Amino acid sequence: MESPNSPLFEPARLGPIELKNRFIKAATFEGMTRDGIPGQKLTHFHRRLAEGGIAMTTLAYCATEADGRLHDKMMYLHHGIEGPLQKLVDEIHAAGARVSAQVVHCGGFSKNRNLQRLKRPLGPSRGINLLGTPAGMPIAGAMGPEDIDTFVRTFADAGRLLKRVGFDAAEIHFGHGYGISQFISPKTNRRTDEYGGSLENRMRLPLRVLEAFREGAGDGLAIIGKISMTDGVKGGVSWEEGVRVATMLDAAGIDGIVTSAGTSRRMD
Ligand SMILES: Cc1cc2nc3c(=O)[nH]c(=O)nc-3n(C[C@H](O)[C@H](O)[C@H](O)COP(=O)(O)O)c2cc1C
Repeated sequence: MESPNSPLFEPARLGPIELKNRFIKAATFEGMTRDGIPGQKLTHFHRRLAEGGIAMTTLAYCATEADGRLHDKMMYLHHGIEGPLQKLVDEIHAAGARVSAQVVHCGGFSKNRNLQRLKRPLGPSRGINLLGTPAGMPIAGAMGPEDIDTFVRTFADAGRLLKRVGFDAAEIHFGHGYGISQFISPKTNRRTDEYGGSLENRMRLPLRVLEAFREGAGDGLAIIGKISMTDGVKGGVSWEEGVRVATMLDAAGIDGIVTSAGTSRRMD
């Protein structure tokens, strides 16, 4: 354990918010959203962390829409869960910590058979959906321009909801092989339009997502991005590109970057 006079215990500024120290609980999907509801068990889990003295906890995998989930036991941000979410936020605040929500969309990597808007999971390019294969969904389709606009819009809606409920921060998931990183990675993005090819093109959707989220959330909420500095697979995002991704997000005004690596999906 660090001594209390370590810099880790000093307050820090994160965009528009102040953190009482440098400890932020990482997003780790806890599997505690029975029926997709962030109820008592999950609230208790995060409250205990807050009581332990961390500055901020992160509510993992808050899908921006029903079809952004890996499976239908995960939560998605919609009106029906605002009550329990509000309770969770209030309890963490009462325990003296701030709370961030990780906002994410799975794109074409899903085993969710209970799709609501889509007929099948969609990514940047048609490809194998290994996670969905046992569930009878072996192929992910390619998003058309309207699908891309809808995908982006779900992040603006998520921003509005998180602001309404009182979250202090949001962590947009740009990594780990989920929807946004499927666009960033040349391994999964084989598009020939303005969303594919050069890194500038592959970053077009991620940067639109950041802008849309900020527009929805307005001022006051810190916006962080979690990125894979490298996919760790041949033909995927390299370290050099990872640095450029971080730089581009920084230039677009993101308040902080969580540097991770790797992908949850096999990329073949
Ligand atoms: C059980 C478990 C669940 C996780 N769930 C998530 C998640 O929902 N979202 C996420 O971004 N990372 C998730 N992670 C990854 C961690 O947040 C973290 O990125 C990982 O442990 C590696 O650390 P690093 O990112 O510093 O390399 C999970 C990790 C574990 C062990």
